[in-house]
Amino acid sequence: MAGVRPSIENPVLYQEVNCMGTQNILEEMKLHQVQNLVMASSSSVYGNCKEVPFREDMVVDFAISPYAATKKANEVMTHVYHKLFGMHVMMLRFFTVYGPKQRPDLAINKFTRLMSQGKEIPMFGDGTTSRDYTFIDDIVDGIIKSCEYCQKNENVYEIVNLGNSSPISLKEMIQVIAKTLGVEPKIQQLPMQPGDVERTYADISKAKNMIGYEPKTTFEEGIKQFVDWYQNQNK
Ligand SMILES: NC(=O)c1ccc[n+]([C@@H]2O[C@H](COP(=O)([O-])OP(=O)(O)OC[C@H]3O[C@@H](n4cnc5c(N)ncnc54)[C@H](O)[C@@H]3O)[C@@H](O)[C@H]2O)c1
Repeated sequence: MAGVRPSIENPVLYQEVNCMGTQNILEEMKLHQVQNLVMASSSSVYGNCKEVPFREDMVVDFAISPYAATKKANEVMTHVYHKLFGMHVMMLRFFTVYGPKQRPDLAINKFTRLMSQGKEIPMFGDGTTSRDYTFIDDIVDGIIKSCEYCQKNENVYEIVNLGNSSPISLKEMIQVIAKTLGVEPKIQQLPMQPGDVERTYADISKAKNMIGYEPKTTFEEGIKQFVDWYQNQNK
């Protein structure tokens, strides 16, 4: 179960799907002697860490949503299977992935839909929160490189940030979408949502050095590709 806010409404479901689901996968891997696991963790494990950019060696014991806590639990449980059964594991901490086919519940998709219909956008907080938006093609490239790393190396257990290392504020994100759509945004300001972190910002030096990860897509270019996809869908 992806998504921060719904996890606050339904923490038991998140626990069942994310933790028990992962446990089932690990047990099946053991049974069928599958050695390599590349899995989605999340930048949300960093919670409201004050120090930026976020590095993989920071302490992440301070989750602020059930979703984030399940991802941290996954990182711990996969480590157990690595130690006990020698599985190779790469836990990839994704930073707000966007691009064509993005989940409809995520902000870029929702805002594009509302702005194209001339409707108001609900903006939680004052617009200064920021996210390290990472384009889908760059993430896919990082996933493929992680799979290759897992296959070519011994004794692998690695937690790796896959971000863009270039945070964008909420206000800026709205402006870029509006400009790409050629509209003037109508903003309805609302209070910050519980569970939402203030910012995410990845240090990606580990991914660069270890797997040769190099995100290439600027936010303007990524949004253009998203908007093109969105408009083609709705022709
Ligand atoms: N999108 C992001 O910005 C982001 C950021 C950090 C981490 N992640 C993680 O990346 C992964 C993919 O996220 P996404 O944004 O592509 O979400 P998504 O909703 O597009 O994909 C999730 C997939 O999981 C499947 N699924 C859900 N419950 C299942 C179950 N019980 N059994 C089998 N399949 C089930 C869904 O059908 C769906 O195909 C998730 O683990 C998410 O937590 C995503």
